[in-house]
Amino acid sequence: TERTLVLVKPDGVKRHLVGEILSRIETKGYDVVELKMLTPTRQILEQHYAEHEGKPFYEPLVEFMMSGPVVAAVLEGNRVIEGFRSLAGTTEPTAAAPGTIRGDLGRDWGLKVQQNLVHGSDSSESAEREMGIWFGA
Ligand code: GTP
Ligand code: MG
Repeated sequence: TERTLVLVKPDGVKRHLVGEILSRIETKGYDVVELKMLTPTRQILEQHYAEHEGKPFYEPLVEFMMSGPVVAAVLEGNRVIEGFRSLAGTTEPTAAAPGTIRGDLGRDWGLKVQQNLVHGSDSSESAEREMGIWFGA
């Protein structure tokens, strides 16, 4: 079995999509084994998004993520890292396939950051690192 770190980003919380998103995860059959809501500090986001430092969208991304509460979760299940990325859809909601969280629930709002509702770890190394950041070693 495997674990992954998922965030419902501030746009998802503001649009009241937390239940819908958790419902899709649970309906798919994954276990939610950790869950909390918090407004992240700059420090936690600098760790979380370290790989993107220096990119043009980095500072708008950090500001957006600090703009309100997020929901952080750890999911468990066989191949859940790949499985959640598949549920989420591709990064840009405009291009994300219908049937996915981003494709069904998201769109381009013409802002500096892709507001795409969710984050999911992209590898087992990222998952371990990110679960440490959000839920402690
Ligand atoms: P996450 O699950 O959130 O990590 O999405 P991802 O793996 O599909 O995207 P990535 O890790 O490459 O980027 C992290 C976040 O930065 C994305 O989810 C977007 O919110 C934002 N982002 C990424 N690339 C771009 C870009 O080219 N332009 C803008 N404006 N935002 C971007
Ligand atoms: Mg990513």
